[in-house]
Amino acid sequence: MRTPIIAGNWKMNKTAAESVAFANEIKEALNQIEGVDIVFCPPAINIPGVAKAVQGTKIGVGAQNMYFEEKGAYTGELAPNMITPFCQYVILGHSERRAYFGETDEGVNKKIKAALAHNLTPIICVGESLEQNEAGETQSFVSGQVKAAFADLTAEQATACIIAYEPIWAIGTGKSATVEQAGGIIKTAVRDAIAELYGEAAAQAIRIQYGGSVTIENINAYMSHPDIDGALVGGASLKPGFVDLVKGAI
Ligand code: PGA
Repeated sequence: MRTPIIAGNWKMNKTAAESVAFANEIKEALNQIEGVDIVFCPPAINIPGVAKAVQGTKIGVGAQNMYFEEKGAYTGELAPNMITPFCQYVILGHSERRAYFGETDEGVNKKIKAALAHNLTPIICVGESLEQNEAGETQSFVSGQVKAAFADLTAEQATACIIAYEPIWAIGTGKSATVEQAGGIIKTAVRDAIAELYGEAAAQAIRIQYGGSVTIENINAYMSHPDIDGALVGGASLKPGFVDLVKGAI
């Protein structure tokens, strides 16, 4: 049985004070929800404050990005061991990072290896653009992204990761994928790619989230699909309603 996991990707929202106040506002209600893993992913500079606020609760903390090198002349970047005192998770290869900051499949693969070497759980994002979707390329593109992300990884390493399938056209648009669309691609392009690489046991073990305009209203429907193990939530993770969204996942 795969434990569902709901992660809130706060993106570039909330100051340090706002991040801590929000974590304090919802942490107790979230801490009482059983049967689901919960993660906050605040902006990097707010991570220590949020980690302190959620200490002693079931809420995990994740970074939104990380560099793969251990240290050195990489202005503006954070090394794995700079986030490990505060984080258990790290989002890697989010489509916004791929689109605006030049992230490549090769770079994402290096970051996954670095994260695993530091006992961080990567949340690896994959997903097609609207153009690719309309051209009927979703299946091949997404399964290609999955295979590139896991290049040179063992089955054990792979199953320690979480994958988030996030169609780019559904992110922040209010145009969420239907449950059939999301569940179908998660099964045939993501889980089956893992089966091809590592066998059926690994494919059944790995947790795969859906992301893209997930709300209190639609979370329950996504979770009813046998291949969807949770959600990566952007906009709806910024408000107190996130508590009800998480409740809707169980
Ligand atoms: P959204 O973002 O929930 O605001 O669509 C999801 C994401 O980018 O992870």
